[in-house]
Amino acid sequence: MLRYALPLLALLSPAAGVADVPPRLVAPERFERHVVVTESALASEVGSRILDEGGNAVDAAVAAAFALAVVHPAAGNIGGGGFLVVTFPDGRATSFDFRETAPLAATETMFLDETGNYAPRRHHEGILSVGVPGTVAGLYLAHERCGRLPWRRLVQPAVELAERGFRVSPSLARGIAEEFERMRPYPATLALFAPKGKPLHPGDLLVQRDLARTLERIRDGGAAEFYEGETARLLVEEVQRRRGLISAEDLKRYRAIERPALRRPYRGYEIVTAPPPSGGPVLLEMLGILSGYDLRTLGPGGSKTAHLLIESMRRAYADRARHLGDPDQVAIPLEELLSDERAAALRCTIDPERASKSDSARFEWPKAGEETTHLSVVDGDLMAVSLTTTLEDSFGSCILVQGAGFLLNNEMGDFNPARGLTTTDGLIGTAPNLVAPGKRMLSSMAPTVVLREGRPCLVVGTPGGRTIPNTILQVIVNFLDHGMSVQEAIDQPRFHHQWLPDEVLAEPRCFSPDTLSALERLGHKVRWRSSPQGSVMAIAILEGEGGRCLEAGVDRRRGDAEARGR
Ligand code: DON
Repeated sequence: MLRYALPLLALLSPAAGVADVPPRLVAPERFERHVVVTESALASEVGSRILDEGGNAVDAAVAAAFALAVVHPAAGNIGGGGFLVVTFPDGRATSFDFRETAPLAATETMFLDETGNYAPRRHHEGILSVGVPGTVAGLYLAHERCGRLPWRRLVQPAVELAERGFRVSPSLARGIAEEFERMRPYPATLALFAPKGKPLHPGDLLVQRDLARTLERIRDGGAAEFYEGETARLLVEEVQRRRGLISAEDLKRYRAIERPALRRPYRGYEIVTAPPPSGGPVLLEMLGILSGYDLRTLGPGGSKTAHLLIESMRRAYADRARHLGDPDQVAIPLEELLSDERAAALRCTIDPERASKSDSARFEWPKAGEETTHLSVVDGDLMAVSLTTTLEDSFGSCILVQGAGFLLNNEMGDFNPARGLTTTDGLIGTAPNLVAPGKRMLSSMAPTVVLREGRPCLVVGTPGGRTIPNTILQVIVNFLDHGMSVQEAIDQPRFHHQWLPDEVLAEPRCFSPDTLSALERLGHKVRWRSSPQGSVMAIAILEGEGGRCLEAGVDRRRGDAEARGR
């Protein structure tokens, strides 16, 4: 592993002042053989050891994901869901959808109160916000179809981390403190994360015995244990104690789904990402539009490039609102949305001299939380895994399954609140993403692998709710069009447009004063955000006559993010 000092520019990280985590002084890290990048050094280490033992990238991703459920409880999970994309050394690819589902007893009107008014707290908080978890089924299926080492071996490191405990990092302590008020109604959650009535401090030992027992059961009994065994019993007991909807039948019926990965060309490369209900189609639609412009010549950072990106974002997010939802319950015109003809037609609507207007008679996206986590893996055979997983908000619903020691998601908040309930302040009532029994809620997560002649050259993903496709878009454009290293591509400040509200939300120092003025002259409204946009964990695979080099890129604003490999 080579570490070397960052150039001065990178030290003056765009993140400064955005988050209080100082940028690391070392980066990028380079590896020769294999590498795992996660938001926790402990989880990356677990994954890397699995690779050392002869496991493949899927094995390492599964083991790291279980480890994250222990050491990064704000987003790592067994009570949530996610998407995993794999590319194989021969150029094949597949994806696993383990998105949560609405319980069978869910109804389209469940987020309305007795008087028919929208009840946002039911939608985003408390037991009705909990979807049927998909993570264990998804990791199990991915391992069954693509893994190499025994399942038990992959879950065991997480058992040990939960049993022996680990030292709370400053960023975990900060996360707990930030969510302390949301945890207050839940004594079992407080007992774990604030055992003396105060949030855990950095350096405290966090031991999770109940979680260790649950992970042991999953280790020994596989996914069936989680969905039909003692863990299922404890989960249903917790939900029913709180008058929630998830039943034993819901758990028994839950299925993770292997789906063909979406593949589309871009600049001679191939972008491989997750299909609906993920955010992959949004990313591909934007890249399709942008493929008609010479971004390399326009260069990074200027108003012309930013304008084209913003206009592509506006159009793809509008299409998302109109068309995307659970592909098993909604007819999605995916081929059309991702076709060259449509990209060309949308390009014709972009005026290089003028910002378009988003149709404000329509609607904007519902709010999304600020947690979720991404991990990227490349193994020695160049099998690559890109995995994004979430509880939705930080620590999900904050409801801990008593006796089982894991948190439940609040992913039901990703459904639209109610039919026709479309407002300018953040609600959307279109049909494709309304609640229905057993339905998957629409996601923005978009784990992605970029291939060059069938071989991976970039593995990338991020959290960030609605901003996810836009963050990945900017990293890909920085990397492929502007020729930046993966770390430089991640370090650039990012911006976001989501059709409505009709504004650009930008990280501080995203645009120079000149660029900002130019964008405003074009008619864009720019608003600065105070928190970072996403947390990218990526790997670049550089191959040449001198051999292969794996370059890890981490979002240096996430305190615990680290690469491990050989
Ligand atoms: O699936 C989604 O799109 C959201 N539930 C993800 C939430 C998220 O990324 C929040 N994180 N920063």
